[in-house]
Amino acid sequence: MNKIIAKKKISEDIIQLTFENKELAEARKPGQFLILRVHDKGERIPLTIMDSDSIKDTIDIVFQVVGKTTTLLSELKVDDKILDVAGPLGNPTLIKNFGRCVLIGGGVGTAVLFPVLKALKEAGNTVIAIIGARNKDSLILIEEVKAISDELIIITDDGTAGIKGLVTDALKEVIARGDEINYVYAVGPVIMMKFVALTTKEDNIKTEVSLNPIMIDGTGMCGGCRVLISGKEKFACVHGPDFDAHQVDFDLLIQRLKMFKDKEHKSMECHCKNKEK
Ligand SMILES: Cc1cc2nc3c(=O)[nH]c(=O)nc-3n(C[C@H](O)[C@H](O)[C@H](O)COP(=O)(O)OP(=O)(O)OC[C@H]3O[C@@H](n4cnc5c(N)ncnc54)[C@H](O)[C@@H]3O)c2cc1C
Ligand code: FES
Repeated sequence: MNKIIAKKKISEDIIQLTFENKELAEARKPGQFLILRVHDKGERIPLTIMDSDSIKDTIDIVFQVVGKTTTLLSELKVDDKILDVAGPLGNPTLIKNFGRCVLIGGGVGTAVLFPVLKALKEAGNTVIAIIGARNKDSLILIEEVKAISDELIIITDDGTAGIKGLVTDALKEVIARGDEINYVYAVGPVIMMKFVALTTKEDNIKTEVSLNPIMIDGTGMCGGCRVLISGKEKFACVHGPDFDAHQVDFDLLIQRLKMFKDKEHKSMECHCKNKEK
């Protein structure tokens, strides 16, 4: 169980791992995530289940190497085992025939978006995908997204691929065409999701976002993933991770994500020093 059978570097700092886990492959639904540990004294980190194969009994995860645990995960090789994996966790994304949907992924958020995009297309929706990143080398899963979307718009901060600009520029252009948009789903940096929400609020377009607060147990016990939705406390692991974008307090989420920055930095420094020895 949890044996890695494939590993692929899909951008400068983003890795896709495929590992065996029959129960998860059978049970998981789009929008759900897992929590894993790489070693027995290590922290638990949440990652979205990007895809699964219920014939081969495998799970795909895509992660950006940002700190100690994702570095340790990136150091595992094919045939190594991930120590433990809990899931599927969180509520599945609501999948139905909305009509015309715009799906927006920023950076590694495109991997979180992918299973939702696939399921919405299978449910008969017309799907327009907007994929954004800093530059050409940071874009991921372009061929996979293109293969299942009715339209794909690529946008980069520096214009090295697709249009130059932000995903909200592309979203405004799609809205300005005048075709009715029935549903928007966005996932990426919190600041990106905040501005997507502000954009669609003007036209009152139903919009959902997948939130990524710090999670510890993933079962509603610790309160670590507390977010404010319409002024009410919710736990993203059991009430989410998807929420109505127009009700989210994004500024509080940004603030809470920075809470452990010093400790995270020290932990990474310590890991690098130990490796040098
Ligand atoms: C539901 C959910 C799904 C996610 N899916 C993905 C995914 O598919 N791919 C991906 O690359 N990332 C995903 N993330 C973010 C991922 O969990 C963090 O990047 C990871 O925990 C960083 O750990 P680290 O030790 O490498 O970095 P650290 O140096 O410890 O932290 C770097 C940053 O990562 C975030 N982070 C750290 N610990 C946690 C934690 N326990 N829970 C949540 N965020 C944390 C914080 O913003 C922190 O500042 C998801 C987060 C959530 C909540
Ligand atoms: S992660 Fe502990 S309550 Fe959500």
